[in-house]
Amino acid sequence: MATALRVENLKVYYFTTRGVVKAVDGVSFVVDEGDVLGVAGESGSGKSTLGYAILGLVPPPGRIVGGRVILDDIELTALSEDELRKIRWSKVSMVFQGALNILNPVMRIGDQMAEILIHHKGISKEEALKVVREHLRMVGLPLDVVKRYPHELSGGMKQRVVIAMALLLKPRLVIADEPTTALDVVIQAQIMNLLKQLKEEEKLSMIFITHDLSLIAEIANKIAIMYAGKIVELGSSEDVYAKPLHPYTQSLLNSIPSIKQRKRLSWIPGAPPDLRDPPPGCRFHPRCPFAMDVCRREEPPFIEIEKGHYTSCWLYLKK
Ligand SMILES: Nc1ncnc2c1ncn2[C@@H]1O[C@H](COP(=O)(O)OP(=O)(O)OP(=O)(O)O)[C@@H](O)[C@H]1O
Ligand code: SF4
Ligand SMILES: [Mg+2]
Repeated sequence: MATALRVENLKVYYFTTRGVVKAVDGVSFVVDEGDVLGVAGESGSGKSTLGYAILGLVPPPGRIVGGRVILDDIELTALSEDELRKIRWSKVSMVFQGALNILNPVMRIGDQMAEILIHHKGISKEEALKVVREHLRMVGLPLDVVKRYPHELSGGMKQRVVIAMALLLKPRLVIADEPTTALDVVIQAQIMNLLKQLKEEEKLSMIFITHDLSLIAEIANKIAIMYAGKIVELGSSEDVYAKPLHPYTQSLLNSIPSIKQRKRLSWIPGAPPDLRDPPPGCRFHPRCPFAMDVCRREEPPFIEIEKGHYTSCWLYLKK
């Protein structure tokens, strides 16, 4: 299977007046064509920063300080802002966390969607509106939405608009950052069904970011677990659910009593570390029930334990 996205040793730091926040600190993974990679981890683990970095949209005072992002054969991390602007939305797009705010409140939905097409493709307004209507139909919205303003839509409808916008230029990869978090459970289920359907029909590759491991189980074929700026486990969904290797993943999975009962991942004792000064060795050691001496001293390498199933934990290495 062809590789859609390759992320190599990516580092993204925020240079704040109170210190350097190492939000993403040496992250590597691959998304193959048609893959949905679920990225899960507690609040502040660096999930959104990872998404922004892939699009070259890390907000100041943040910046990419190391590593590479390669989409198809294009090294995004080597492009100028102008070159990136051409690729954003057309080759890789993002449904942002709290995305409803990206809609312009004083512009009709049809006009703001058409503007993206006119800008990127140079087509006429009439042609653009035709494509807009096709996309609204695709995400299950009535066509009169074209004429409405954002405040005339429900939260679920707005989220569908934002998803339609992200797909407008048929990108190769869509990054969906907590696309259902602000929505009630019924609408959440509808949006999940929509994403699953689009994944099949449009043959999308996707990175699906969430707090909620039970949502990942519904849609992703691969899972990356993030802790304190690092991926600590990566593998197929089946393997990670059936045989979680990292103690942090095990705790996360224990925190969902059943796949149907959704719960935020907040019960694990202790708090994630301050990323300005993360603990030495394994960053999870202050909260890990299995922590050994070596864990406090040396960072465990991220290695393949079984075929396609990676983790970084000294429990699996002789020391
Ligand atoms: N603009 C910023 N300036 C300084 N620090 C930031 C900024 N944005 C994020 N951070 C810090 O970077 C780290 C990672 O944040 P990020 O938003 O990527 O986490 P997240 O996993 O998406 O969290 P959540 O689940 O709450 O959305 C956190 O420590 C956060 O405080
Ligand atoms: S390396 Fe040590 S502290 Fe870290 S998860 Fe493994 S056992 Fe726990
Ligand atoms: Mg986030």
